Amino acid sequence: MGVSFDKVDGAMWLDFDVQPAANPVSATDRAARLADPGFGRVFTDHMAIVRYSQGKGWHGARVESRANFPLDPATAVLHYAQEIFEGLKAYKREDGGVNLFRPDANARRFRDSADRMAMAPLPEPVFIEAVEQIVRIDRDWIPGGEGSLYLRPFMIANEVFLGVKPSADYIFAVIASPVGSYFKGGPAPVSIWVSENYTRAAIGGTGAVKCGGNYAASLRAQAEAIEHGCDQVVFLDAVERRYIEELGGMNVFFVFDDGTLSTPPLGTILPGITRDSIIALAREAGTPVREAPYTIEEWRADAASGKLKEAFACGTAAVISPIGKVCSASGDFTIGGGAAGPVAMGLRKKLVDIQYGRAADSHGWIRKVL
Ligand code: PLP
Ligand code: COI
Repeated sequence: MGVSFDKVDGAMWLDFDVQPAANPVSATDRAARLADPGFGRVFTDHMAIVRYSQGKGWHGARVESRANFPLDPATAVLHYAQEIFEGLKAYKREDGGVNLFRPDANARRFRDSADRMAMAPLPEPVFIEAVEQIVRIDRDWIPGGEGSLYLRPFMIANEVFLGVKPSADYIFAVIASPVGSYFKGGPAPVSIWVSENYTRAAIGGTGAVKCGGNYAASLRAQAEAIEHGCDQVVFLDAVERRYIEELGGMNVFFVFDDGTLSTPPLGTILPGITRDSIIALAREAGTPVREAPYTIEEWRADAASGKLKEAFACGTAAVISPIGKVCSASGDFTIGGGAAGPVAMGLRKKLVDIQYGRAADSHGWIRKVL
Protein backbone atom coordinates (compact mmCIF):
# COMPACT_ATOMS: atom_id res chain seq x y z
CA MET A 1 0.00 0.00 0.00
CA GLY A 2 1.61 3.23 -1.10
CA VAL A 3 1.14 6.69 0.29
CA SER A 4 -0.35 9.03 -2.26
CA PHE A 5 1.27 12.35 -3.07
CA ASP A 6 0.08 14.93 -5.51
CA LYS A 7 2.03 16.74 -8.23
CA VAL A 8 4.95 14.36 -8.41
CA ASP A 9 5.12 13.77 -12.14
CA GLY A 10 8.45 12.03 -12.84
CA ALA A 11 9.12 14.37 -15.76
CA MET A 12 8.47 17.43 -13.62
CA TRP A 13 10.92 20.29 -13.92
CA LEU A 14 11.58 23.18 -11.55
CA ASP A 15 13.56 26.31 -12.27
CA PHE A 16 15.99 27.15 -9.47
CA ASP A 17 16.12 30.72 -8.24
CA VAL A 18 19.89 31.21 -7.84
CA GLN A 19 20.98 33.72 -5.18
CA PRO A 20 24.79 33.66 -4.85
CA ALA A 21 26.14 34.00 -1.29
CA ALA A 22 26.68 37.63 -0.30
CA ASN A 23 29.70 36.74 1.86
CA PRO A 24 31.45 33.69 0.39
CA VAL A 25 34.60 32.35 2.04
CA SER A 26 37.64 34.26 0.74
CA ALA A 27 39.96 32.59 -1.76
CA THR A 28 42.73 32.47 0.86
CA ASP A 29 40.52 30.82 3.50
CA ARG A 30 39.14 28.42 0.94
CA ALA A 31 42.66 27.37 -0.10
CA ALA A 32 43.54 26.79 3.58
CA ARG A 33 40.43 24.64 4.10
CA LEU A 34 41.10 22.69 0.91
CA ALA A 35 44.69 21.92 1.93
CA ASP A 36 43.71 18.92 4.07
CA PRO A 37 39.93 18.62 4.05
CA GLY A 38 39.62 15.12 5.56
CA PHE A 39 36.04 13.84 5.21
CA GLY A 40 32.85 15.81 5.80
CA ARG A 41 34.09 18.69 7.95
CA VAL A 42 34.61 21.42 5.35
CA PHE A 43 31.57 22.83 3.54
CA THR A 44 31.05 24.98 0.48
CA ASP A 45 29.29 28.38 0.33
CA HIS A 46 25.93 27.27 -1.04
CA MET A 47 23.06 24.84 -0.70
CA ALA A 48 20.12 23.92 -2.91
CA ILE A 49 16.65 23.68 -1.39
CA VAL A 50 13.30 22.48 -2.72
CA ARG A 51 10.16 22.33 -0.60
CA TYR A 52 7.17 20.02 -0.75
CA SER A 53 3.78 20.49 0.76
CA GLN A 54 0.61 18.56 0.17
CA GLY A 55 -1.59 20.51 -2.19
CA LYS A 56 1.28 22.53 -3.63
CA GLY A 57 3.65 19.70 -4.55
CA TRP A 58 7.37 20.48 -5.07
CA HIS A 59 8.04 24.20 -5.21
CA GLY A 60 10.36 27.02 -4.16
CA ALA A 61 13.55 25.59 -5.73
CA ARG A 62 16.45 27.81 -4.69
CA VAL A 63 20.22 27.89 -4.59
CA GLU A 64 21.34 30.14 -1.78
CA SER A 65 23.93 30.76 0.89
CA ARG A 66 24.44 27.71 3.14
CA ALA A 67 22.55 28.50 6.35
CA ASN A 68 20.79 26.95 9.35
CA PHE A 69 17.26 25.58 9.01
CA PRO A 70 14.81 27.09 11.46
CA LEU A 71 12.88 24.05 12.77
CA ASP A 72 9.90 24.08 15.11
CA PRO A 73 10.58 21.74 18.07
CA ALA A 74 7.61 19.61 16.95
CA THR A 75 8.98 19.10 13.41
CA ALA A 76 8.31 15.46 12.48
CA VAL A 77 11.92 14.52 11.57
CA LEU A 78 13.10 15.42 15.07
CA HIS A 79 10.79 12.82 16.60
CA TYR A 80 10.28 9.94 14.21
CA ALA A 81 13.38 10.18 11.96
CA GLN A 82 11.53 10.37 8.67
CA GLU A 83 14.74 11.25 6.79
CA ILE A 84 16.68 9.95 3.78
CA PHE A 85 19.94 10.91 2.12
CA GLU A 86 22.34 10.18 -0.72
CA GLY A 87 26.07 10.47 -1.29
CA LEU A 88 27.83 11.08 -4.61
CA LYS A 89 30.93 12.89 -5.78
CA ALA A 90 32.04 15.44 -8.36
CA TYR A 91 35.53 14.83 -9.78
CA LYS A 92 37.82 17.38 -11.40
CA ARG A 93 39.15 16.22 -14.75
CA GLU A 94 42.66 16.98 -15.98
CA ASP A 95 41.18 19.39 -18.58
CA GLY A 96 39.64 21.40 -15.71
CA GLY A 97 36.09 20.14 -16.33
CA VAL A 98 33.97 18.31 -13.75
CA ASN A 99 32.39 14.84 -13.82
CA LEU A 100 29.53 13.41 -11.81
CA PHE A 101 29.47 9.61 -11.51
CA ARG A 102 26.08 7.95 -12.10
CA PRO A 103 23.90 10.70 -10.54
CA ASP A 104 20.88 9.07 -12.19
CA ALA A 105 21.46 5.97 -10.04
CA ASN A 106 21.52 8.11 -6.87
CA ALA A 107 18.33 9.90 -7.98
CA ARG A 108 16.59 6.56 -8.52
CA ARG A 109 17.76 5.16 -5.17
CA PHE A 110 16.58 8.37 -3.49
CA ARG A 111 13.08 7.76 -4.88
CA ASP A 112 13.21 4.17 -3.64
CA SER A 113 14.26 5.40 -0.20
CA ALA A 114 11.42 7.97 -0.21
CA ASP A 115 8.94 5.26 -1.12
CA ARG A 116 10.06 2.96 1.72
CA MET A 117 9.93 5.84 4.23
CA ALA A 118 6.49 7.01 3.03
CA MET A 119 7.96 10.33 1.88
CA ALA A 120 7.11 12.42 -1.18
CA PRO A 121 9.08 11.09 -4.17
CA LEU A 122 11.35 13.74 -5.68
CA PRO A 123 11.35 13.70 -9.51
CA GLU A 124 14.74 12.40 -10.65
CA PRO A 125 15.44 15.38 -12.97
CA VAL A 126 14.99 17.76 -10.02
CA PHE A 127 17.44 15.72 -7.89
CA ILE A 128 20.05 15.84 -10.67
CA GLU A 129 19.50 19.53 -11.42
CA ALA A 130 19.89 20.46 -7.72
CA VAL A 131 23.18 18.51 -7.56
CA GLU A 132 24.46 20.13 -10.77
CA GLN A 133 23.52 23.61 -9.56
CA ILE A 134 25.67 23.15 -6.45
CA VAL A 135 28.59 21.74 -8.44
CA ARG A 136 28.44 24.70 -10.82
CA ILE A 137 28.15 27.46 -8.23
CA ASP A 138 30.70 25.90 -5.84
CA ARG A 139 33.14 24.69 -8.53
CA ASP A 140 36.05 26.52 -6.87
CA TRP A 141 35.62 24.17 -3.89
CA ILE A 142 36.42 21.01 -5.87
CA PRO A 143 39.86 19.79 -4.80
CA GLY A 144 42.36 18.77 -7.46
CA GLY A 145 44.37 15.54 -7.46
CA GLU A 146 42.65 12.56 -5.86
CA GLY A 147 40.25 14.76 -3.87
CA SER A 148 36.62 15.28 -4.84
CA LEU A 149 33.50 17.22 -3.90
CA TYR A 150 31.20 14.98 -1.85
CA LEU A 151 27.57 15.90 -2.46
CA ARG A 152 24.97 15.17 0.17
CA PRO A 153 21.35 15.37 -1.04
CA PHE A 154 18.87 14.73 1.77
CA MET A 155 15.20 15.07 2.64
CA ILE A 156 13.53 15.69 5.99
CA ALA A 157 9.92 15.51 7.15
CA ASN A 158 9.00 19.08 7.95
CA GLU A 159 5.41 18.94 9.20
CA VAL A 160 4.86 20.37 12.67
CA PHE A 161 2.77 17.62 14.24
CA LEU A 162 3.32 14.99 16.92
CA GLY A 163 1.10 12.24 15.49
CA VAL A 164 2.81 9.24 13.95
CA LYS A 165 1.97 9.41 10.25
CA PRO A 166 3.73 10.36 7.01
CA SER A 167 4.55 14.07 7.06
CA ALA A 168 2.58 16.35 4.74
CA ASP A 169 5.62 18.65 4.26
CA TYR A 170 9.23 17.97 3.25
CA ILE A 171 12.47 19.84 2.66
CA PHE A 172 14.89 18.47 0.08
CA ALA A 173 18.37 19.99 0.14
CA VAL A 174 21.85 19.44 -1.27
CA ILE A 175 24.99 20.47 0.57
CA ALA A 176 28.58 19.84 -0.54
CA SER A 177 31.85 19.03 1.19
CA PRO A 178 35.32 18.90 -0.39
CA VAL A 179 36.94 15.63 0.68
CA GLY A 180 40.25 13.84 0.63
CA SER A 181 40.35 10.22 1.73
CA TYR A 182 37.58 8.71 3.92
CA PHE A 183 40.14 6.63 5.77
CA LYS A 184 43.22 8.34 7.17
CA GLY A 185 46.16 7.20 5.06
CA GLY A 186 44.21 6.52 1.85
CA PRO A 187 43.62 3.04 0.48
CA ALA A 188 45.78 1.27 3.08
CA PRO A 189 44.19 -1.98 4.36
CA VAL A 190 41.48 -1.45 6.98
CA SER A 191 40.56 -3.66 9.93
CA ILE A 192 37.02 -4.86 10.45
CA TRP A 193 35.14 -5.82 13.62
CA VAL A 194 32.45 -8.50 13.26
CA SER A 195 29.40 -7.39 15.21
CA GLU A 196 27.93 -10.35 17.08
CA ASN A 197 25.79 -8.26 19.46
CA TYR A 198 24.06 -5.98 16.98
CA THR A 199 22.43 -6.39 13.57
CA ARG A 200 21.77 -3.73 10.96
CA ALA A 201 18.75 -4.88 9.00
CA ALA A 202 16.02 -7.50 8.92
CA ILE A 203 13.88 -8.76 6.06
CA GLY A 204 11.07 -6.24 5.57
CA GLY A 205 13.04 -3.53 7.34
CA THR A 206 14.90 -0.53 5.94
CA GLY A 207 18.34 -2.04 5.25
CA ALA A 208 18.03 -1.60 1.49
CA VAL A 209 17.38 2.14 1.64
CA LYS A 210 19.46 5.09 2.73
CA CYS A 211 17.61 6.45 5.76
CA GLY A 212 19.35 8.17 8.65
CA GLY A 213 17.90 5.71 11.16
CA ASN A 214 20.02 2.88 9.73
CA TYR A 215 23.14 4.85 10.59
CA ALA A 216 21.93 5.85 14.06
CA ALA A 217 21.33 2.16 14.78
CA SER A 218 24.83 1.25 13.54
CA LEU A 219 26.73 3.64 15.81
CA ARG A 220 26.85 1.42 18.91
CA ALA A 221 28.31 -1.39 16.81
CA GLN A 222 30.78 0.99 15.15
CA ALA A 223 31.82 2.23 18.61
CA GLU A 224 32.46 -1.41 19.58
CA ALA A 225 34.67 -1.74 16.48
CA ILE A 226 36.72 1.29 17.54
CA GLU A 227 36.96 -0.03 21.13
CA HIS A 228 38.52 -3.18 19.66
CA GLY A 229 41.04 -1.19 17.63
CA CYS A 230 39.22 -1.68 14.30
CA ASP A 231 38.32 0.87 11.63
CA GLN A 232 34.85 -0.37 10.69
CA VAL A 233 32.12 -2.78 11.72
CA VAL A 234 30.76 -5.58 9.52
CA PHE A 235 27.23 -6.81 10.17
CA LEU A 236 25.87 -10.35 9.98
CA ASP A 237 22.32 -11.26 8.91
CA ALA A 238 19.61 -10.85 11.54
CA VAL A 239 18.13 -14.36 11.21
CA GLU A 240 21.00 -16.87 11.36
CA ARG A 241 23.64 -14.39 12.49
CA ARG A 242 26.19 -16.01 10.15
CA TYR A 243 25.93 -14.44 6.72
CA ILE A 244 28.08 -11.39 5.95
CA GLU A 245 25.90 -8.42 5.02
CA GLU A 246 27.88 -5.18 4.74
CA LEU A 247 29.86 -2.61 6.70
CA GLY A 248 28.31 0.40 8.43
CA GLY A 249 28.73 2.48 5.27
CA MET A 250 30.17 0.17 2.60
CA ASN A 251 29.50 -3.02 0.68
CA VAL A 252 31.97 -5.90 0.74
CA PHE A 253 33.63 -8.17 -1.86
CA PHE A 254 35.68 -11.38 -1.58
CA VAL A 255 38.38 -12.48 -4.05
CA PHE A 256 39.17 -16.21 -4.38
CA ASP A 257 42.18 -18.18 -5.58
CA ASP A 258 40.24 -19.45 -8.63
CA GLY A 259 40.04 -15.86 -9.87
CA THR A 260 36.36 -15.35 -8.98
CA LEU A 261 34.71 -12.58 -6.96
CA SER A 262 31.79 -12.86 -4.59
CA THR A 263 29.61 -10.25 -2.85
CA PRO A 264 26.55 -10.64 -0.59
CA PRO A 265 23.21 -10.65 -2.46
CA LEU A 266 20.82 -7.70 -2.41
CA GLY A 267 17.81 -7.77 -0.08
CA THR A 268 18.67 -6.36 3.31
CA ILE A 269 21.83 -4.49 2.22
CA LEU A 270 22.15 -1.12 0.52
CA PRO A 271 22.32 -1.61 -3.27
CA GLY A 272 25.61 0.26 -3.62
CA ILE A 273 26.32 2.08 -6.85
CA THR A 274 30.03 1.33 -6.39
CA ARG A 275 29.10 -2.35 -5.84
CA ASP A 276 27.08 -2.38 -9.06
CA SER A 277 29.91 -0.66 -10.98
CA ILE A 278 32.52 -3.12 -9.68
CA ILE A 279 30.36 -6.09 -10.70
CA ALA A 280 30.07 -4.62 -14.20
CA LEU A 281 33.81 -3.84 -14.52
CA ALA A 282 34.88 -7.25 -13.21
CA ARG A 283 32.49 -9.20 -15.44
CA GLU A 284 33.59 -7.18 -18.46
CA ALA A 285 37.19 -8.16 -17.73
CA GLY A 286 36.10 -11.81 -17.74
CA THR A 287 36.06 -12.26 -13.95
CA PRO A 288 33.08 -14.33 -12.77
CA VAL A 289 31.18 -12.53 -9.97
CA ARG A 290 28.73 -14.31 -7.67
CA GLU A 291 26.10 -12.47 -5.65
CA ALA A 292 25.87 -15.19 -3.06
CA PRO A 293 25.59 -15.65 0.71
CA TYR A 294 28.94 -16.15 2.50
CA THR A 295 29.27 -16.91 6.19
CA ILE A 296 31.73 -15.66 8.77
CA GLU A 297 32.84 -19.29 9.31
CA GLU A 298 33.63 -19.60 5.58
CA TRP A 299 35.46 -16.28 5.65
CA ARG A 300 37.65 -17.41 8.54
CA ALA A 301 38.35 -20.87 7.06
CA ASP A 302 39.06 -19.55 3.54
CA ALA A 303 41.43 -16.90 4.88
CA ALA A 304 43.31 -19.59 6.82
CA SER A 305 43.50 -22.05 3.91
CA GLY A 306 44.53 -19.40 1.40
CA LYS A 307 41.41 -20.00 -0.73
CA LEU A 308 40.48 -16.38 -0.01
CA LYS A 309 43.08 -14.08 -1.52
CA GLU A 310 41.58 -10.65 -0.80
CA ALA A 311 38.58 -8.88 0.67
CA PHE A 312 37.65 -5.28 0.12
CA ALA A 313 35.04 -2.72 1.10
CA CYS A 314 33.53 -0.29 -1.38
CA GLY A 315 31.34 2.79 -1.45
CA THR A 316 31.25 6.37 -2.69
CA ALA A 317 33.03 7.76 0.35
CA ALA A 318 35.55 4.92 0.72
CA VAL A 319 35.98 4.09 -3.02
CA ILE A 320 37.66 0.64 -2.67
CA SER A 321 39.48 -0.13 0.56
CA PRO A 322 41.27 -3.46 1.06
CA ILE A 323 40.37 -5.34 4.26
CA GLY A 324 43.57 -6.56 5.89
CA LYS A 325 42.33 -7.92 9.20
CA VAL A 326 39.07 -9.23 10.65
CA CYS A 327 38.51 -9.22 14.41
CA SER A 328 35.73 -10.75 16.46
CA ALA A 329 34.96 -11.99 19.95
CA SER A 330 35.98 -15.46 18.74
CA GLY A 331 39.40 -14.40 17.45
CA ASP A 332 41.17 -12.42 14.73
CA PHE A 333 42.42 -13.39 11.29
CA THR A 334 44.28 -11.67 8.48
CA ILE A 335 43.63 -11.79 4.74
CA GLY A 336 46.45 -12.07 2.23
CA GLY A 337 49.01 -11.29 4.91
CA GLY A 338 47.20 -8.05 5.77
CA ALA A 339 48.45 -6.26 2.64
CA ALA A 340 46.47 -4.54 -0.14
CA GLY A 341 45.83 -7.07 -2.92
CA PRO A 342 46.22 -6.62 -6.67
CA VAL A 343 42.56 -7.31 -7.53
CA ALA A 344 41.23 -4.63 -5.16
CA MET A 345 43.85 -2.13 -6.24
CA GLY A 346 43.34 -2.93 -9.94
CA LEU A 347 39.57 -2.46 -9.71
CA ARG A 348 40.10 0.72 -7.72
CA LYS A 349 42.32 2.16 -10.46
CA LYS A 350 39.85 1.18 -13.18
CA LEU A 351 36.96 2.82 -11.34
CA VAL A 352 38.81 5.97 -10.31
CA ASP A 353 40.22 6.44 -13.84
CA ILE A 354 36.66 6.45 -15.22
CA GLN A 355 35.46 8.82 -12.48
CA TYR A 356 38.24 11.35 -13.14
CA GLY A 357 37.87 11.05 -16.92
CA ARG A 358 41.27 9.39 -17.41
CA ALA A 359 39.72 6.27 -18.95
CA ALA A 360 36.97 5.88 -21.53
CA ASP A 361 33.42 5.73 -20.14
CA SER A 362 31.90 2.91 -22.14
CA HIS A 363 28.88 2.61 -19.80
CA GLY A 364 27.48 6.14 -19.92
CA TRP A 365 28.27 6.52 -16.21
CA ILE A 366 29.81 9.99 -16.48
CA ARG A 367 27.80 13.19 -16.58
CA LYS A 368 29.95 16.18 -17.48
CA VAL A 369 28.71 19.16 -15.49
CA LEU A 370 31.46 21.54 -16.54
N1 PLP B 1 26.32 0.36 2.27
C1 PLP B 1 26.03 1.37 3.08
C2 PLP B 1 25.36 1.06 4.37
C3 PLP B 1 26.36 2.69 2.73
O1 PLP B 1 26.09 3.72 3.54
C4 PLP B 1 27.00 2.93 1.49
C5 PLP B 1 27.35 4.29 1.09
O2 PLP B 1 26.60 4.97 0.49
C6 PLP B 1 27.26 1.84 0.66
C7 PLP B 1 26.91 0.57 1.08
C8 PLP B 1 27.88 2.04 -0.68
O3 PLP B 1 26.96 2.63 -1.56
P1 PLP B 1 27.45 3.50 -2.78
O4 PLP B 1 28.44 2.68 -3.51
O5 PLP B 1 26.22 3.75 -3.57
O6 PLP B 1 28.05 4.73 -2.22
C1 COI C 1 28.80 7.12 1.17
O1 COI C 1 29.70 6.37 0.80
O2 COI C 1 28.31 7.98 0.45
C2 COI C 1 28.23 7.01 2.50
O3 COI C 1 27.15 7.41 2.67
C3 COI C 1 29.02 6.41 3.58
C4 COI C 1 28.92 7.21 4.86
C5 COI C 1 29.65 8.52 4.76
C6 COI C 1 27.53 7.36 5.37
